[in-house]
Amino acid sequence: MEKLRLGIVGLGHRGREMFSMAAKVFDDLEAVAACDLNPALWFETARGRSEPLAQSMPGVKFYEDYRQMLGEAKPDVVLVETPANCHAEFCAAALSAGVHVYSDIPTVNSIEEAQMLWDIHLKSNALIMTGATTLGWGFVLAMQDFHRQGMLGKPFYLEAEYIHDIRCLWGETPWRKTYLPIRYCTHSLGPLLSIMDEDLREVSCLNTGSHVTDFKGANDLMTAHFRTKSDVVARLTVSFVNNAGCGCHSYRVFGTEGYFEHLSARGAQGEKTFVNSNKLCGMDKLTELPVGFTPSEVEKMQQASPHAAFGHGGAETYLWNSFIRAIRSGAKTTSIPLKESLRMTLPGIYAAESAADGGNIKTIHYPWDNRTT
Ligand SMILES: NC(=O)c1ccc[n+]([C@@H]2O[C@H](COP(=O)([O-])OP(=O)(O)OC[C@H]3O[C@@H](n4cnc5c(N)ncnc54)[C@H](O)[C@@H]3O)[C@@H](O)[C@H]2O)c1
Repeated sequence: MEKLRLGIVGLGHRGREMFSMAAKVFDDLEAVAACDLNPALWFETARGRSEPLAQSMPGVKFYEDYRQMLGEAKPDVVLVETPANCHAEFCAAALSAGVHVYSDIPTVNSIEEAQMLWDIHLKSNALIMTGATTLGWGFVLAMQDFHRQGMLGKPFYLEAEYIHDIRCLWGETPWRKTYLPIRYCTHSLGPLLSIMDEDLREVSCLNTGSHVTDFKGANDLMTAHFRTKSDVVARLTVSFVNNAGCGCHSYRVFGTEGYFEHLSARGAQGEKTFVNSNKLCGMDKLTELPVGFTPSEVEKMQQASPHAAFGHGGAETYLWNSFIRAIRSGAKTTSIPLKESLRMTLPGIYAAESAADGGNIKTIHYPWDNRTT
């Protein structure tokens, strides 16, 4: 079977890592083209590498212009790894050219971009997959399984926290200095929405602004409450400037039949996952689950190939595997299609609007709503 020709746009730290690892781990992929505005990232030794990518991936042609790359290299699949506020235009150009897309998060940066990409994806035969990393973690898959088996009942209150001090990245990626943290909500809302059957419909959000540093444009922490039509409430706190020093991601799910929580690491105490359920004999007490970041599917791949796990404990291996399977099987959609991506992304955009308006409640709209206004 012919390999899928892989291209990338955006050769920052993340893009370099994802491109080289995906091409290395999956025999189905053949890296053929790479694009960045900055050629030094291809031809010179960049952070995290022992030699330039031009040297370690000699079969790949480098481009400074994305559309030229799409037109000349004719990739089957494109990986979008540009800064967080500009993914949609690259996804849209690929879909319009019939090229499958694996996009990093968040897929869109505005309500208008969401509508534009939605319309284009409806007309395209190519697939779009969102690289929503946290949906490839072992403990998230365990939570989904408990939910699917009815052990949690109906989730009625959910929480997520993403606490990550990223000041060390301000120099290399200046866009992170002013990026509103609540917009980076995919990592947190993704797992919660994966066990919710309704979209988030209202939000109220507050922003602390800048306290920790002298940089007045910083937004240290933002916290939002979301609500669905049936009064399911989700709370999300995202902070990219703080002195917490704890692990990054925590989640709690309060269900009508059970409870799930994943607490990030605290000092010497590693991350922990707990669950209880009224539905299973002996599980009514909070019980620690022996699950971590790496999904069991990827652990099996590691037995055959020790370097198979890449991207936050093997989450990206898991997601790429499912994306490649979707393409190869001729599926009409991916495991994280655009609709799921927008469900996890648009609430953060409306939350930012709420914060700018002093926390007033905003109604959240999606491209699939039937609206006349
Ligand atoms: N899923 C995760 O866990 C995770 C982790 C880290 C970063 N990310 C995401 O990955 C993406 C990349 O992050 P990063 O830290 O590597 O950022 P970065 O700013 O270092 O890299 C982005 C690259 O895109 C290039 N670029 C911008 N506009 C371009 C254009 N028009 N044409 C070609 N190249 C262009 C820039 O020159 C830069 O090299 C971001 O969206 C970020 O949110 C996701």
